[in-house]
Amino acid sequence: MEYDPDQPQYSTSDPKSFAYTSALERWPVILTSAIDDLYRSVSNVPAAETEKLAEGKAITEQLAKLKYELQHNRQLTPLLDDGEPDIAEYNKELEQRGQLTWYNAPWLYTECYLYRRIATLFARSKHWKNYDVFARQKLSTFKSSRAAVLELAARYRKLAKEAGEDKKGVSSEQIEEAERLLFVEMCEICLWGNATDLSLLTTLTYEDIQKLQGSEARKAQEKNIIVNDMSAAYDVLRDARKTKGPQEERRVDIVLDNAGFELFVDLILAGYLLSANLATTVVLRPKVIPWFVSDVIPQDFADLINALRDPQAFYTAPDDTGRTYEPLSAAQEEDVDFLFKQWSQFHADGRLVLRPHRFWTSPGSYWRMPHVAPDLFEELKGAEVVLFKGDLNYRKLTSDAAWPPTTPFTTAIGPLGPGSGIRILSFRTCKADVVVGLPEGEDERLRNEPNGGGDSGARKWAWSGKWAVASFSDGKK
Ligand code: F6P
Ligand code: MG
Repeated sequence: MEYDPDQPQYSTSDPKSFAYTSALERWPVILTSAIDDLYRSVSNVPAAETEKLAEGKAITEQLAKLKYELQHNRQLTPLLDDGEPDIAEYNKELEQRGQLTWYNAPWLYTECYLYRRIATLFARSKHWKNYDVFARQKLSTFKSSRAAVLELAARYRKLAKEAGEDKKGVSSEQIEEAERLLFVEMCEICLWGNATDLSLLTTLTYEDIQKLQGSEARKAQEKNIIVNDMSAAYDVLRDARKTKGPQEERRVDIVLDNAGFELFVDLILAGYLLSANLATTVVLRPKVIPWFVSDVIPQDFADLINALRDPQAFYTAPDDTGRTYEPLSAAQEEDVDFLFKQWSQFHADGRLVLRPHRFWTSPGSYWRMPHVAPDLFEELKGAEVVLFKGDLNYRKLTSDAAWPPTTPFTTAIGPLGPGSGIRILSFRTCKADVVVGLPEGEDERLRNEPNGGGDSGARKWAWSGKWAVASFSDGKK
């Protein structure tokens, strides 16, 4: 806490905030789904595995107890030791913050605590240690993104073919301009992929998701990107390609957010950066424990690649309700196969790397990174650009604090801003109260949009994922 900014953070006690709505309405739903999921898995355990059955039932009860504590606004209790060093950090902060109750607590800390506490229940068991209570949801949502996945796979393959064609008669300026446009398109695909995280799915239907993902929707939504610094990131990558020697590494890091469709679009961007030689290596940075429902853990990466290895089997397998699906056409299978082969090759060549770190699931903001995770801080300096995906990463970069919305992004990210040695492009569809870097009057304009919050005092426009920001900070200056 000592490294955090002085600005007050959003609190679950403020009825005008999304923090309040989240705690009151979303968390119980998320816990109920977790209980349902585990109940299903426990029911499938053979009766002979008595120890596993008993443990599964006990964890289900503990999840129900957690839900009870939340809904009865009980005090947050210290986390039980599960052998990982971050437990001490969580408990130290809990002690420093005094007596927190669920509905009167800093949103960021408490939400991290919620997922960390769920993780301890499994980590402390013998038979459920590696069980991901959100995995079923992650995979089935990816399956429901079939239309968008196939559309993007076709588009990507076509682009790769065009990139290999002869560019006679085209000036280098034209080639560069075309590349910039393509880079921005790839970033936009990647950005809108963030509109679909599962923790918000408590209010979105699968049909809504499909609508968010197609190319038409993307074009229509360009005007909804209210801060757009993507081009600045392109300049940096283009310049590095010009100035660095052919043997020198040019790395782009992606601090991942959600699994499934969002990870798929992250890989589209990563594959594009590598094939266009805008980077020589891409490091993907997942979490180590199940997090905020849909965040990527290494197993999700493996699941995605496996799904793409045999898309026919994955997309046509009947679901629980017995619903069956149309087979993929031969062309669709080829498109997906092209992606699968390219990504697998990049992975095998060590150019597409997965590097998890515990820091991403620590309780605090990224203002603490230089002190709490100096190894990671140093590592990130080695990248040309670090892309931070999603809403939670944005909240952590800005400490989830109630900054005036015109505060420059570079100010709001504190020690990760100018002079840090780290270049940041943070993409996020807005799903929380915090927003910075807006021009004067923009927040007021958006509040006056339908469902924007009006003069209720609530910044409702920033809660639904309809609006987005892509903010850049050049920490190497
Ligand atoms: O509940 C907190 C929150 O940040 C939401 O605002 C958001 O919907 C979700 O968690 C996570 O979003 P993301 O997956 O984009 O980080
Ligand atoms: Mg997420």
